[in-house]
Amino acid sequence: MQKQLEEIRRGALSAISSAGSGVDLEALRVKYLGKKGALTALLKQMGALSPQERPKMGQLANQVREDLSSAIARQAEILSQKALDARLASEVLDVTIPGTKVPVGHKHPMSIVLEEVEDIFAGMGFQIAEGPEVELSDYNFTKLNTPEGHPARDWQDTFYLSEDSSVVLRTQTSPVQVRVMERQKPPIRIISHGRVYRKDEVDATHSPMFHQIEGLVVDKGVTMADLKGTLEVLVRRLYGKDAKIRFRPHHFPFTEPSCEVDVQCFECQGEGCRVCKGEGWIELLGAGMVHPKVLEGCGIDTEVYSGFAFGIGVERLTMRRFSISDLRLIFENDVRFLTQF
Ligand code: DAH
Repeated sequence: MQKQLEEIRRGALSAISSAGSGVDLEALRVKYLGKKGALTALLKQMGALSPQERPKMGQLANQVREDLSSAIARQAEILSQKALDARLASEVLDVTIPGTKVPVGHKHPMSIVLEEVEDIFAGMGFQIAEGPEVELSDYNFTKLNTPEGHPARDWQDTFYLSEDSSVVLRTQTSPVQVRVMERQKPPIRIISHGRVYRKDEVDATHSPMFHQIEGLVVDKGVTMADLKGTLEVLVRRLYGKDAKIRFRPHHFPFTEPSCEVDVQCFECQGEGCRVCKGEGWIELLGAGMVHPKVLEGCGIDTEVYSGFAFGIGVERLTMRRFSISDLRLIFENDVRFLTQF
């Protein structure tokens, strides 16, 4: 029996040490140590041994069982180490290989200009106000001293959203002036930007949707000189300190007096060229002293307060700022164009 035990041990140990996988190893464990395994089968014959031999064989059998168990555990360890090595080798990662660059977007030229303008006005103490794009005609027109029948209210120019013409897509950001004055007492110093809508055909300088920046200042003793000073700061900061502006008389229903402001052509310094269509000047914005009727409609005492306002076309500002010749480029979202800024 001793010989058989030794044989089992020898055979099993060599089989275990050459087992190539966990499955093989488990099969060997069953084969030698399992309930129906070789060792168990042998131990069943113990009864036939003499009482002297029995404890000796029992001891040897236990020894063999332990040897095989630990050999299996050792081989399992070796196999899992090998598997790990193989995995590490196959998943090797070279951190020195250059990565794939993910293209990162950047600000739209309009946003760049808008943020510059907001920054300039914030520096002068202006706050940012907001108003709705779907606006009441009352705010878009009436409260801005543009009564029923005024040509600016023409169906040809305005997108009306209701049959009775009481709701419009705002044609200007000026209604924000009224909304601010109705809820805030002077001193008021705000700018407000956003989309406005007019029934224009799309061409190089027109779009049925465009953007404006509205400005409003109401306080004691505000004069046209404050308007001029404020706009000069804007233009110098935007276009450089040599930029020149001029004020031309104009008419807006909600300002009195009203003016338009031109900036000297950046291309020809006022000589007259293709960019300024020979004028030497480029129109930038509309402005004026807020009409007393508008102030009073908002409950502001015109004996005490006065104000100025202005409205700037943001597309125009952007086109000048980056020398963009066609308005449509701004809205087409062609990355070949947009990545240039
Ligand atoms: N709302 C005018 C327009 O769209 C621009 C404008 C002119 C705004 C004079 C003003 C202003 O605030 O005072 O043409």
